[in-house]
Amino acid sequence: MIAFKHLKLIEVIDRKGSLSKAAKELNLSQSALSHQLKQLEEILEIKVFHRVNNNLIFTEEGKEFRDYGASILKEMAQLKTRMAEIKEFQVNQYTHGYSLQETNRLYDQASTVADFIHWDSYWEKGTKILEAGCGVGAQTQIIATNNPTCEITAVDISDRSITEAKKLIATSDIKNVQFQIADLRKLNFPDEYYDHIFVCFVLEHTPNPLQILTELKRVLKKDGTITVVEGDHGSTYFYPDSTTARKAVAAQVELQKKNGGNANIGRTLYPLLEQCGFQQIAISPRQIYVDKSKPNLVDGFIRKTFTAMIKGVEEEAVSKGIISKNEMEEGIANLYRVADTGGTFCYTFFKGVGVK
Ligand SMILES: C[S@@+](CC[C@H](N)C(=O)[O-])C[C@H]1O[C@@H](n2cnc3c(N)ncnc32)[C@H](O)[C@@H]1O
Repeated sequence: MIAFKHLKLIEVIDRKGSLSKAAKELNLSQSALSHQLKQLEEILEIKVFHRVNNNLIFTEEGKEFRDYGASILKEMAQLKTRMAEIKEFQVNQYTHGYSLQETNRLYDQASTVADFIHWDSYWEKGTKILEAGCGVGAQTQIIATNNPTCEITAVDISDRSITEAKKLIATSDIKNVQFQIADLRKLNFPDEYYDHIFVCFVLEHTPNPLQILTELKRVLKKDGTITVVEGDHGSTYFYPDSTTARKAVAAQVELQKKNGGNANIGRTLYPLLEQCGFQQIAISPRQIYVDKSKPNLVDGFIRKTFTAMIKGVEEEAVSKGIISKNEMEEGIANLYRVADTGGTFCYTFFKGVGVK
């Protein structure tokens, strides 16, 4: 059977121009290399080379083998790069994970903060929108409903999340969304394809947000806009205050950093968009202030969005030695106490828009 080593052998002989040089590069003796060549010709039952005065000259069939083999080697190299990228994504693992609790938290978060984030998420009729890192479709359903004439493509690296997102949209009246599994670091869309791009709570999880913004800019049309929404955990304060609650929040920030992300990314949106070459950048901080006069936000934001997020990383933060189990438990209990005892809570999201 033809093996990878045969393709490589022919590629190296072709590139080096002689058996001795090829043997050197492949770290083989010349006789071992000749043996492999003979073996290949026996398998193929064709001559790959004419041997003329110690020189190897490709036969017509040999040229075909070489060219076909070169395209397979190229694809193998691409496959290797792609697998390395996937591995890198797993190493810089996504802090919140893909559990059922996190799926529900994303839905709670999106519906709770929709008024703050999306009152101005409207684009011109008939335009093509890319939602980058759509997760389980929590924001997708809002922007799709707000923009029924726009054609939305929503992508995420997680096939599990895309399956959830498809289920969610299938149970609604929304007809203007299609989902795809895609890596934002390397999209399969052509240059200048989308009129607008929307990214929400994604860059905070990536080790290289500029790489993603640059790739998104590539697929954005000239004069198109990018909208980025991110949180910033450094903007969190609450009453009654508590040292352990602050430590629990700091533990989440530290864990996210260890996993390659930045939970305080909101404050860096302007410089990030600027470094990426976007124009007319406008950053709009969206502060959520909660007290007991807003019971929906007490439940939806303090309990189900923010504290649920800290609770979601409890095990990992403790197991990685970032915080002790006691402190984490007490901190989470104190965050719930803010909600239960009529306390107050403040958090700021940042929404940035830039033009290509
Ligand atoms: C916190 S979730 C936010 C999901 C959604 N935007 C929302 O607000 O509900 C972050 C999402 O970014 C996705 N993500 C992270 N890195 C990615 C990458 N390189 N390519 C595509 N998706 C990525 C994760 O799989 C995850 O679904």
